[in-house]
Amino acid sequence: MDVLSVLKCRLEIVDDSVSSKELVDRIVALGPREEPLHLVELDTVVKRHYDWLRHLPRVRPFYAIKSNDDASIVETTLLLGCGYDCASKAECERVLGFGVDRERIIFAQPAKTIESLVYAREKGLRTVFDSEYELWKIHQYYPEAEVLIRYRFDSRKAKINLGVKFGCEPDKEACRLLDLAKKLGINVVGWCFNVGSGCSDPEIFYEAIEAGRRITDYATSIGYSFSMIDLGGGFPGDKDVNFQIYAVHINRALEEFFPDGQGWTVIAEPGRYYCAAALTSVIPVHGKRVFRSADSSARIEKVFYYFNDGIYGTFYSAKYRNQPVKPIIWKKRNDCGPMHKTFLFGPTCDGNDVFAADISLPELNVSDYVVFESQGAYSRVHSCRFNGFCLPKSIVFVRKSVWNLLDSVSSEDNLDRTILGSKYLQRNNKIEKLVFE
Ligand SMILES: Cc1ncc(COP(=O)(O)O)c(C=O)c1O
Repeated sequence: MDVLSVLKCRLEIVDDSVSSKELVDRIVALGPREEPLHLVELDTVVKRHYDWLRHLPRVRPFYAIKSNDDASIVETTLLLGCGYDCASKAECERVLGFGVDRERIIFAQPAKTIESLVYAREKGLRTVFDSEYELWKIHQYYPEAEVLIRYRFDSRKAKINLGVKFGCEPDKEACRLLDLAKKLGINVVGWCFNVGSGCSDPEIFYEAIEAGRRITDYATSIGYSFSMIDLGGGFPGDKDVNFQIYAVHINRALEEFFPDGQGWTVIAEPGRYYCAAALTSVIPVHGKRVFRSADSSARIEKVFYYFNDGIYGTFYSAKYRNQPVKPIIWKKRNDCGPMHKTFLFGPTCDGNDVFAADISLPELNVSDYVVFESQGAYSRVHSCRFNGFCLPKSIVFVRKSVWNLLDSVSSEDNLDRTILGSKYLQRNNKIEKLVFE
């Protein structure tokens, strides 16, 4: 079966007029389940893709599959013609298994196992390095590799700093590594950086690209001829974020430092941007514990609620990756109790399994629902079956006009779909209709 037919089996096509709120109501109407439920709206992924093409026409998106590898989301990105940023051999295998051309993959792992490096060689994948040891390994196990040097350029306004782990310093260290690469005869074709995941600092992209220009100039001075630049991830994903401002800074930097028409291939590795807002977690309260003051007033001091989902399901990032949840109480307004100090717990025995602590919420009852928007990034990918609890289950919807669009894009076979996306955009202004929020 082709990707479109497989995807069709996973989802329900709904009318364009159906709102996100109505879809949440439909999930709530299913009643409490053993497994946590995820409402997935593929429209959001498609809309994000076209916003990307519209605002960053020179930058090809290589979806960071690590952020959400749910089948329906991956298949949608396949139909849209994204490239892929893969972190491991398994991710490369999965993407290649879909028939994606190796040119549309970046194996963006700076510290690869020997086995995965040998695999990358077998498949002819482009990869990255940030240390002498990786260069020596590449020299030994994949000497003909095309590689990018990853330099560090951290935003102080990112949810997750990646520079603490990966990326050489962009000045002397980068030059030293390029010298060694040259000595070893390694084919460095460009550079990449990652400003940090969930970066709320669009200007940093300008500065990071400017640093890339200096590295490019040094590389040229020692005989390299760079052709590829990779802007990494870090783009915002939550609902209602202003992506355009990121594009303004990036386009300005590209124009200034890597003008169009000079043969640059420009890619980026957005993860959160594509998937975060596509997923809403919809979960019922299944347990409640009320703590009252010891004095005669019996005032409520705090309330604990227990859910079928926690840090071992959807909410690892809420606790450990700087993504605090914003609970939406899903019941009629006039049915809400008074506000209390509140703690939200997952189902496991682990005392750490608390994904919101000391927040203020109206009092809830068992079987009331709580909804968490923008939970698509770095959520279910962290989930496991600790204590035997169920993994989150996706319930997938797409609006009719978006489905028709995916259908028409997928029928134009044997074309580079990233380019096709842009062509489609220019050819058919109907895309403007894809604004559902
Ligand atoms: C190498 C690399 N590229 C891209 C990403 C995606 O980042 P984001 O989801 O913030 O776009 C990550 C995230 O950890 C990463 O490590």
